[in-house]
Amino acid sequence: MPTTLHTSELPGLELLHRGKVRDVYVLPGNRLLMVASDRLSAFDVVLPDPIPGKGEMLCQISNFWFAKTAHLLPNHLTGEDVAAVLPDGVDPALYARRSVVTRRLKPLPVEAIARGYLIGSGWKDYQRSGSLCGIRLPAGLQQAARLPEPIFTPSTKAAVGDHDENVSFDAVVRAIGGDLAEQVRVATLQVYRFAASLAAERGIIIADTKLEFGLDEAGQLQVMDEMLTPDSSRFWPASEYREGISPPSYDKQFVRDYLETLDWNKSAPGPRIPAEVIEGTRQRYAEALKRLAGIELD
Ligand SMILES: Nc1ncnc2c1ncn2[C@@H]1O[C@H](COP(=O)(O)OP(=O)(O)OP(=O)(O)O)[C@@H](O)[C@H]1O
Ligand SMILES: [Mg+2]
Repeated sequence: MPTTLHTSELPGLELLHRGKVRDVYVLPGNRLLMVASDRLSAFDVVLPDPIPGKGEMLCQISNFWFAKTAHLLPNHLTGEDVAAVLPDGVDPALYARRSVVTRRLKPLPVEAIARGYLIGSGWKDYQRSGSLCGIRLPAGLQQAARLPEPIFTPSTKAAVGDHDENVSFDAVVRAIGGDLAEQVRVATLQVYRFAASLAAERGIIIADTKLEFGLDEAGQLQVMDEMLTPDSSRFWPASEYREGISPPSYDKQFVRDYLETLDWNKSAPGPRIPAEVIEGTRQRYAEALKRLAGIELD
């Protein structure tokens, strides 16, 4: 059975950060415990109703990709057993499949995005300027067009409530230095190409994805946070892809469509959602996990 967890509670552990979806705790030995909750955010607002098992699915999909890409670049996972680091009295079954133990890295102040298709803020920038993050693109591309080749389109990490902003590669060089900037660019595109071709075999288009990187104590670059989840990427069923529209995404489109039927101003607090929309959303996450990673959580 999937477990349901809206907000984690781990008495005795220091809570470092509660994001929209994940809760991050400090562990001794310069490590973190990252817990993926079942919170669902839409239009940047966390909804009051959890999606049962969503955090487990997110965590498992991320773990799948970290393992699959380990030959390309090192990642933040220590591989330690979650149950071993939980405080006494906490039910391990609730946390085991939705949490990971990681090295605590020094985060680089850049969202490393790779795009294979022209959508979202990339499409907006292109319409305005014909370029994306300073990269000139062919004229006349339509929304959701496949790009001639995948491109690295970094953005700044915005403070809570702000939206991230696309920046040029030069801005990344100024922020973290040329060597690191180049390493991040190459690694991001490598991961994207690898994952996109694996997903394509399974009928899924990865339109774009965002990675985060950090440095370990020796100054070595590692990929951290989450990897190639529906929250950090756009997954499109290949069967529903076409140019000129915004193709439906695997996960949140369903709940967004429902929310659009409401008279809600898209600011907090978010509305309650009906049981069938919760279940439909859960099924879409499960479908993504099954098709991409071949994983079925009971
Ligand atoms: N190995 C790591 N070492 C240090 N920090 C990390 C590591 N992995 C992830 N992080 C950071 O932990 C935080 C995870 O937060 P989370 O992604 O849940 O929320 P958020 O980024 O604040 O907001 P959002 O919900 O929009 O993603 C991020 O700030 C991320 O950069
Ligand atoms: Mg985040």
